[in-house]
Amino acid sequence: VTESTAAAGSTEMSQNAETIGSVRQQLANLMRESLRATLPELDEEEPIVSACNNPKNGDYQCNNAMGIFSKIKGKSTVFKNPNAIGQAIAKNIPESAMVERTSIAGPGFVNIVLKTDWIEEKIYRMLVNGIGTWGPVLPVTKAVVDFSSPNIAKEMHVGHLRSTIIGDCIANMLEFCHVDVLRRNHVGDWGTQFGMLIEYLFDEFPNWEDIGDQAIGDLQAFYKKAKGKFDEDKDFKARAQQAVVSLQGGDERYRAAWKKICDISRLEFDQVYKRLKVTLEEKGESFYNPYIPDVVDQLRSKNLIVESNGAQVIRVDGYEIPLIVIKTDGGFNYATTDLTAFWYRTNVEKAEWLVYVTDVGQAQHFDMVFKALKLAGWLPSDCRIPKTMHVGFGLVLGADGKRFRTRSTEVVRLVDLLDEAKTRSKDELINRGKDKEWSKEELEAAAEALGYGAVKYADLKNNRLTNYTFDFEQMLDIRVSIKLVGTWTSEALSWDTIIRHMLRIADPAGMCFMVSPLAIVQQGNTAVYLLYAHARICSILRNSKKDIEELKKANSIALAHPSERVLGLHLVRFGEVVEDSVTNLLPNTLCEYLYSLAGLFTDFYTNCKVIDSNEETSRLLLCEATAVVMRACFKLLGITPLYRL
Ligand code: ARG
Repeated sequence: VTESTAAAGSTEMSQNAETIGSVRQQLANLMRESLRATLPELDEEEPIVSACNNPKNGDYQCNNAMGIFSKIKGKSTVFKNPNAIGQAIAKNIPESAMVERTSIAGPGFVNIVLKTDWIEEKIYRMLVNGIGTWGPVLPVTKAVVDFSSPNIAKEMHVGHLRSTIIGDCIANMLEFCHVDVLRRNHVGDWGTQFGMLIEYLFDEFPNWEDIGDQAIGDLQAFYKKAKGKFDEDKDFKARAQQAVVSLQGGDERYRAAWKKICDISRLEFDQVYKRLKVTLEEKGESFYNPYIPDVVDQLRSKNLIVESNGAQVIRVDGYEIPLIVIKTDGGFNYATTDLTAFWYRTNVEKAEWLVYVTDVGQAQHFDMVFKALKLAGWLPSDCRIPKTMHVGFGLVLGADGKRFRTRSTEVVRLVDLLDEAKTRSKDELINRGKDKEWSKEELEAAAEALGYGAVKYADLKNNRLTNYTFDFEQMLDIRVSIKLVGTWTSEALSWDTIIRHMLRIADPAGMCFMVSPLAIVQQGNTAVYLLYAHARICSILRNSKKDIEELKKANSIALAHPSERVLGLHLVRFGEVVEDSVTNLLPNTLCEYLYSLAGLFTDFYTNCKVIDSNEETSRLLLCEATAVVMRACFKLLGITPLYRL
């Protein structure tokens, strides 16, 4: 008894609405104490807490009883079945400001209903202290996210675009969880192709040292021409091969030419990053070069490297082919660099999580590298740190279902693709007369936020492993679809009448969010819709003519109406959704949350009068909290919010 009272006291402190960590984490802490009190003999039983699938059962549930029962079956005289364990777990939850009531379902599931005033307090604290306080705690302090990573002088293609978008989102989420993130651009800036490129540069641009970076023009075309000459001209080929040796030997002139070529490529990459507002720190393959010999020596001293057809390789389980570490010509390759980069990142940079974002086509490469690292004893086989994760993604398809290509040319210039998204959004805004309403800068900024946001969201909302169809029409769609519900009886009501009726009650932002007994208005799951939904909340706040900072001075949030409570509960779940999204490395989880948030806000706004109601202050604060959480989602997804549309 004494023990549980003491625990209750400390819990009261640690579970107040202001505590850092997600609601689920806070609840799990309570449940941990209850489990300890229920079964002291089972130490370290991890609480299994999740949101209830069916809100009728409660807000959260604790699912430990069945597992515990199978452990103690036959040994315990106290608990005859899982349900009894569930009962005890529920009874032993320490007194707290958090839990309202519990109920036990079936084989011992403990359903938990949170105190509504605790949720209200949690939201209010967030408004005062900032959304940063909702960042969940992860078991990692420093991570590398290796993403984007295009290859010098080659095409930066839609695959790199996906890597850039997904990698940036994962890095953002880790940062929100208080992790120190190294955003690494592992550009392909090394390899034998440079011999040919440099020699071609010398031939075609004798005064290459003095010309501007723009003079060479399209590096991809340059690469193609160099390759053509390499294949046809024996003398050139020999010179190119010699050039590799000179470059790797550190010859100054060759180093300078290599740097020039890299700089030109970088100009193109940076145009993409600038548009997407993605920050990356380049540490390309060449960076790890000086460390390779030592890493290879270490692997050799562990007897991992064997000879195979003149190459030096590491054999890993499950693969016929070995991982090549030193090629027949004595050179190092992609895998050697990845082994070395791992060594550098874990030993020098002290990273604990290493996340690699590439298309699924590279899954085998990473699997082999990770297996080799395990053989070396550098990567533990269990979940201890360091931990590596390959974040694979599917192909980008065109509207025709084939691999994405533009109509005119073979390859898609990413800059052109992004510019098209912006132009299309701008045209739409002009159609709506925004060019007359807004300044030029505002129009540009909105077109960018909509266009680039649409491209990012269309990618992130899918499970990354699936191939996704790149379709401007779809991603920029702001049309409303109407689904009929119930029985359609009135012959007199034509579609035309219904739509006319709906448009009449559409709100000033120009979107219908109406739910009628006859039809449900559905918005496309696009960034455009979400940006509109956010701008609409902002317009409600503006129209109230109230100073939100003033309103925030008193804690007056009351989640009285059912749709207010549903919205409030969804808001406070933000932290754990980020936690799930980032631990499973699935940004679509966050997108689903944001899309439902917009829907729940619509329900609330349809059911609860805000401006000039008795509950105005509370409801305006709830509007503000929704806008804050939406903006936090946008930030993690890399989307720029818009405040008016
Ligand atoms: N440059 C590679 C490519 O374009 C991607 C690099 C991924 N990162 C890594 N550490 N291997 O396919």
